[in-house]
Amino acid sequence: MKVLTTEREALRSKGSERKGAVPFVEDDKEDSPLAKLGQRTGGDASFKRISVFGLGYVGAVSLACLARDGHRVIGVDIDPVKLELIRSRRSPILEEGIQELMRDVVDSGRVSVTEDAAQAMRDTDISFVCVGTPSAANGSQDLTALLRLAAQIGAALRHKQGFHTVVIRSTVQPGTVEDKIEPILERESGRKSGVDFGLCFQPEFLREGSSISDYDHPPYTLVGGNCEAAVEAVREVFQHLPARFMVTSIRVAEALKMSCNAFHAMKITFANEIGRVSQALGIDSHEVMRLVCADTRLNISPAYLKPGFAFGGSCLPKDLRAITSIARQHDLVVPMLSSLLASNRVHIDHAVDRILRLGRPKVGMLGLSFKTGTDDLRESPLVLVAKRLIGEGCELRIFDPEVQLSRLIGANRNFMEANLPHLGSLLCADLAQMIGPSDVVLVGLQQPALNEALQSLVRPEQTVLDLVNLPNRDLLRCRYEGVCW
Ligand SMILES: NC(=O)c1ccc[n+]([C@@H]2O[C@H](COP(=O)([O-])OP(=O)(O)OC[C@H]3O[C@@H](n4cnc5c(N)ncnc54)[C@H](O)[C@@H]3O)[C@@H](O)[C@H]2O)c1
Repeated sequence: MKVLTTEREALRSKGSERKGAVPFVEDDKEDSPLAKLGQRTGGDASFKRISVFGLGYVGAVSLACLARDGHRVIGVDIDPVKLELIRSRRSPILEEGIQELMRDVVDSGRVSVTEDAAQAMRDTDISFVCVGTPSAANGSQDLTALLRLAAQIGAALRHKQGFHTVVIRSTVQPGTVEDKIEPILERESGRKSGVDFGLCFQPEFLREGSSISDYDHPPYTLVGGNCEAAVEAVREVFQHLPARFMVTSIRVAEALKMSCNAFHAMKITFANEIGRVSQALGIDSHEVMRLVCADTRLNISPAYLKPGFAFGGSCLPKDLRAITSIARQHDLVVPMLSSLLASNRVHIDHAVDRILRLGRPKVGMLGLSFKTGTDDLRESPLVLVAKRLIGEGCELRIFDPEVQLSRLIGANRNFMEANLPHLGSLLCADLAQMIGPSDVVLVGLQQPALNEALQSLVRPEQTVLDLVNLPNRDLLRCRYEGVCW
């Protein structure tokens, strides 16, 4: 019989010999969680020495899945009860499949647990930090556990031989890793981050109740890291997952996780508010939401999900007012739906405030209709911006190639007469006439030809305030500001 020299070789060999079985496990029944290892790793995982700090919902699942995937894992927690449970082959948390998996990985000999952070750091090459980040009384994140642990990890790094990668998996406010954790690690270790040790933030996407399955099927693996070696260390651990591996900055990765959770909360609240309104009208709310989700072009899609300017036009504001009016008629409170127009107004005010911060400048507006490609001015947020700026005493010029006063009729004309009765005196015949005397150019329209003309016409002393996420904005020879970027 062939002698297997390494554990990896043994795992590979067993995986190919007998579908899914794993060595070093007494209980290697085909249906045990470990029995699926060969299929999951494809037999080519690069096995590592890993420490997991914090053995709660995230840490316990991570520890079990990492060990299942062939890595040697040391779990660290300050709670002796959790450590004792794992030593006795039991999971400290309740999750589908976790009890069996924990039993199997502990039996495999690849898992150990300790309270000793220094020992865990010494005996591993990569650490995943999964301690809690609960709310403080004022709603901010209580980082006490995380920052205390960072000091311990930093102190251990001082005595560490070789490169070590620290991966923060706890959900943290953007800036926490670079502004708070990194300085502590450098101070306590006396070493340089990104050179002597690696530091990453890798958001965790698992959900309680389905966390083992979520661990194996994340939407993607996203890592922000301070050096290539650190990102590569994470890649080696997770590259076997059937998910894209994406690299970004640490701050974006932190912001992504918070944005995802806000988005999930928003989706749940939206479905529930639509549910309450539908119920009051005797309409099947599940049927409504099923059909909302069936539209993958405009609804469940990236459409409307780009930071930009406020919404307007003849439909969204009107129909939001209608749905909140229905709710009121049925004595229903729908705080989220009711807040949308208010939030939209805040966005318009934000743009106006950015202009007024520059004093009372002469403003040139490129675009007036509610979006590119139409001459519909009804409830256009740009009309409201123009109205506010005039009210604040700004000198205003407007150029919109799609808007011609002589062609405005019906509701469109009525809206303009009510909101910008002197539109005729504000409209310019071309872009040059609008830009020439302006201190600030407000760009609310996207057209390739106009973008190019803008590049050639703006001057260094002018400011462009961009509402449309202009492409090639680096080519603008002037001050540039985005409305929310
Ligand atoms: N629970 C989830 O589904 C989920 C999903 C994604 C992300 N997250 C994030 O992951 C983080 C952990 O969440 P959780 O639900 O697993 O928390 P948890 O409260 O269940 O577990 C945290 C663990 O950290 C331990 N701990 C505290 N200080 C420690 C220290 N100095 N050293 C070692 N261990 C220490 C605690 O004893 C506890 O066991 C949070 O930031 C959370 O927002 C959670």
